[in-house]
Amino acid sequence: ENEEGKIRIGFSQAMTNDDWRRSMNNSMKLQASMNPEIDLQIKDANYDVLTQIKQIDELIADSVDVLIVSPIQSKPITSVVQKALNAGIPVLVVDRKTESQQYTAYLGADNIEVGRNAAKEIIASNIKDSIRIIEIKGLVGSSPAEERGMGFNQIIDQFKKVQITATIEGNWEKESIQNKFRQLLNDEIKVDYVFAHNDRMAVGAWEVARELGIENEISFVGVDGLAGTNGGIQAVKDGVLKATVLYPTGGDEAIKLALKIFNKEAIPKNNILSTTIINELNADIMNNQFEKINEQQDQMEEQLAAIKKQEELYYSQNNLLKITMAL
Ligand code: FRU
Repeated sequence: ENEEGKIRIGFSQAMTNDDWRRSMNNSMKLQASMNPEIDLQIKDANYDVLTQIKQIDELIADSVDVLIVSPIQSKPITSVVQKALNAGIPVLVVDRKTESQQYTAYLGADNIEVGRNAAKEIIASNIKDSIRIIEIKGLVGSSPAEERGMGFNQIIDQFKKVQITATIEGNWEKESIQNKFRQLLNDEIKVDYVFAHNDRMAVGAWEVARELGIENEISFVGVDGLAGTNGGIQAVKDGVLKATVLYPTGGDEAIKLALKIFNKEAIPKNNILSTTIINELNADIMNNQFEKINEQQDQMEEQLAAIKKQEELYYSQNNLLKITMAL
C-alpha cells in the first residue's frame, strides 16, 4: 500500500502486440477501474526475456503489493519470481507457468485439457479410416506449448488410425510457421488436419494452403477462440477454421484474485479457467454471448468515465465555491 492507501498491483505482461494479450490487459484495466483503491501498473516485455526480468526487478524494487506475471518462457523467469517471493511480494502467475511450483497461485485454463479437446474434436468429427495430422507448436519452453502438445498426443496415441506426420516448431506468431508449412506442402506431404497451438498460427497455415489452392482439402484447428472480427470464433464462422479451443484470458479474474491475495484470503493454488471446443455447432451462440459481454463492458467503461467526469465537475465547482466564499 502506498501513501494514498492504494493497493498496488504490478503486472509483467509477456507482450501486447496480439489481440489475446490486448484483450487480457483491457479486462484487467476494466476490473481494476471498478475498484478505485487499485493502482494497476502494466509493464510490457515486448517478448524479450531479459526485458521481462528487468521489469519484474523494477516492480520488486517498487515494492508492489501483488505481482502478476505472464512469463514468456518458463525457465528464465523462474528465479526472478522467486526473488519477488523472497522480498515478501506475493506472485500470481497467469497463462504461462514458471518452472517450479514456487508462486503464490496460478491462474489459467488447463492446457493439457486444451490439447486433449483438440484431439478429441479431430477424432470425433472424422469418419475416415486414416487421419494424418501436422502439429504446429507454440514457442518451445513456454508451458502452454508443452502442455497442449502433451494433451494432444495423449489422445492421438490411443487411436491407431490417427498419425502425426510432421510437426512444426512455431513461436505463436504466424510468420514463424508459414515458410515451414509451405515447404511441407510443396514436398507433397499428405495431411488431413492441421492442429496449431493457437488460432493465429492456424489461420496462418490456412493462408498458405489457400495460396496453393488446397485449403478445402485440409481442416484447421486452433486455440484461443477470441471474439471479434479477427478472432478465432469468426474464423470458425467463416469456415477458415474447423474448430478452435477456447482459451480465456482471465484478465478480470486475475485482478479479483490479486485483491484476495492482498486481503490475505485463502485461495486455491491452481485457479483453473474453463475451456471448451468451438465448432460450427456453437460458434454463433458463443459469438453472441461474447458480444453481449463486450457490450456490457463498453457500457461499464462509459459509466465509469461519466462518474469520473461528474467527480471532476464536483471538485472544480467545489473549488470555485471555496474561492468565491474566500473573496
Ligand atoms: C497470446 C498467445 C495466445 C496463446 C497464449 C499462450 O500471446 O500466443 O495465442 O494461447 O499466448 O500463452
